[in-house]
Amino acid sequence: MKKALIVANWKMNKNIEETLDYIKDLAPRVKNEKSDIVIAPPFTSLYSAKKELIHSNIKLAAQNSHSEDFGQYTGEISSLMLKSLGVDYVILGHSERRNYFHEDNFFINKKIKACLANGLKVILCVGEKKEEREKNITESVIKKQLLECLDGVKKDFITIAYEPIWAIGTGLTATSEEASSVHVFIRKVLNELYGDSSSIRIIYGGSVKPENAYGLMSANGIDGVLVGGASLKVNDFEKIVKFGG
Ligand code: PGA
Repeated sequence: MKKALIVANWKMNKNIEETLDYIKDLAPRVKNEKSDIVIAPPFTSLYSAKKELIHSNIKLAAQNSHSEDFGQYTGEISSLMLKSLGVDYVILGHSERRNYFHEDNFFINKKIKACLANGLKVILCVGEKKEEREKNITESVIKKQLLECLDGVKKDFITIAYEPIWAIGTGLTATSEEASSVHVFIRKVLNELYGDSSSIRIIYGGSVKPENAYGLMSANGIDGVLVGGASLKVNDFEKIVKFGG
């Protein structure tokens, strides 16, 4: 079994002070854990978070980045800038970015390439909408996302997060069996694409909580979790991290 990857996606939550309080509380509690632990605060907290995380086993992620290194893109942040902050991972292709900010697979593909060129690891999110699951086209939707987002991308430093859109922030989690069957499918697509894809972890996201985290992480093909709402509370995130070990 691969070392689990447990990621806290805070989304648009927590100011600098709250970020530092959280890290000071979490870091000693998880210092002996074997899993890879990552937190993804908002951009405004990254610099302070990095300084606080320096002596911990917790890595830092950004929640997005632009595809260009610099230029006339008001309001955007480049992967080159994130690298200089000491960020380790970037979450790309999250369904909230695809939905509210109209990011498509081609743009996400460019962002992935920029992150890798700048030495950052990528967590690429894929997932189907409720209607797509009901129409039984989950696999073809996910295959298209994977092939288009990973076009021309080397497999090193890539993680895939399977996040069924109907399960994000809704309290509706995919059962371990539902999630596992999509993870097995994603692995098949990655093996077709790369030959051996065993270095790529496939993690699950969508209403992960302490109550369901163990079941999900023990299921076939699930190498960790991407946690939104439940990662905002140190107690809950600590419990989830401990299931990963
Ligand atoms: P959630 O979010 O755990 O609040 O459903 C997960 C995510 O969007 O990454």
